[in-house]
Amino acid sequence: MYNVNEVRSDFPILSRQVNGKPLVYLDNGASAQKPQVVIDAITQAYSMEYSNVHRGLHYLSNVATEKYEGVRAIVKRFLNAASEDEVIFNSGTTEAINLVSYAWAAPRLQAGDEIVLSVMEHHANIVPWHFLRERQGGVLKWVKCDANGDLDPQAVLDAIGPRTRLVAVTHMSNVLGTVVDVAAICRGAREKGVPVLVDGSQAAVHIPVDVQAIGCDFYVMTGHKLYGPSGSGAIYVRAKRQAEMRPFIGGGDMIREVSLDAITWNDPPMKFEAGTPSIVSQIAFGVALEYMMGLGMANIAAHERELRDYAQARLSGLNFLNIQGNSKNKGAIFSFTLARQAHAHDISTILDKRGIAVRAGTHCAMPLMKHMGLGATCRASFGLYNTKAEVDALVSALELVNELFNA
Ligand code: ALA
Repeated sequence: MYNVNEVRSDFPILSRQVNGKPLVYLDNGASAQKPQVVIDAITQAYSMEYSNVHRGLHYLSNVATEKYEGVRAIVKRFLNAASEDEVIFNSGTTEAINLVSYAWAAPRLQAGDEIVLSVMEHHANIVPWHFLRERQGGVLKWVKCDANGDLDPQAVLDAIGPRTRLVAVTHMSNVLGTVVDVAAICRGAREKGVPVLVDGSQAAVHIPVDVQAIGCDFYVMTGHKLYGPSGSGAIYVRAKRQAEMRPFIGGGDMIREVSLDAITWNDPPMKFEAGTPSIVSQIAFGVALEYMMGLGMANIAAHERELRDYAQARLSGLNFLNIQGNSKNKGAIFSFTLARQAHAHDISTILDKRGIAVRAGTHCAMPLMKHMGLGATCRASFGLYNTKAEVDALVSALELVNELFNA
């Protein structure tokens, strides 16, 4: 376990005030704050080491290329991929799932073929599949979670039929915090010969991930939630699936030769990375992952489990609060409404006046909200630097909110 106060001092923004109060940042599910090492890596790259990558034969281009390409080995270690060639860089989950949709799924999907999804998916893992439904006659098969927010792996496997081409499922709900047993889903799906995409946007931030142990074909994650810069990210694509993918975005870097009447592709992973990438963001993303691994993913998970248990106990003590989703296997993400009809936006505005940042709304997960019978909720999502004192601050502020709405 680490000393959370020492860790907090690594994040300059955490010492600022908001609306005259110490910042209590509980919107990590949307995006996480950055440690000084990540900020320094950005400054260092632009101050002393910047050039385009893969192109120049000059000193700076070689330095930038080495640093940029070095991040593949870091991601490989973070996810325990078999090879760094299985790591494709991109701007995050949305781009990554669109890549799988266009490059892998679209060429093999016939009208009537199915994609199995859970109702807990984020829109990033829904909309690209709707495109295939609209454009190619794909069929989306939905698997529901129960009232606790648990998703039964067997229900996902039961939804697989002879026309199912892919299962795409979240590893951790961004609204309820439920951790899904994706290894069980992958095991069963493999027996049926169906590939699985796992959306690790939330899970990779909070728990150790081993893509080989999970047995997935695609695993996506987003740099800005992993304490790195926005516009950074990576997808793990098992080598066998990479070989089945056609290129998605065309341009420089992803080609080997271009002539007036023909093109040949570069080898993967570069075959799927066209144009000048987010060089510096990606370098700093590597630094963020090193920072997390330095703390230890098991330690981060243990710290957040303690926070989850503490927050669960304190928030359930508020009889005016409805906590949505009570899975036994959940991370430190709490969505809630007030028993009294207070709109989530009003609650979050009052919390903000106390320096507390939460997200309010439908959390890019409208099918889940509809399934749970919800309009909008407030969401407090914790990260590696949050403390029990911040849980207490949230609880006191919610008591104040309740008094205001009772007045
Ligand atoms: N996916 C992010 C969230 O859940 C934006 O808030």
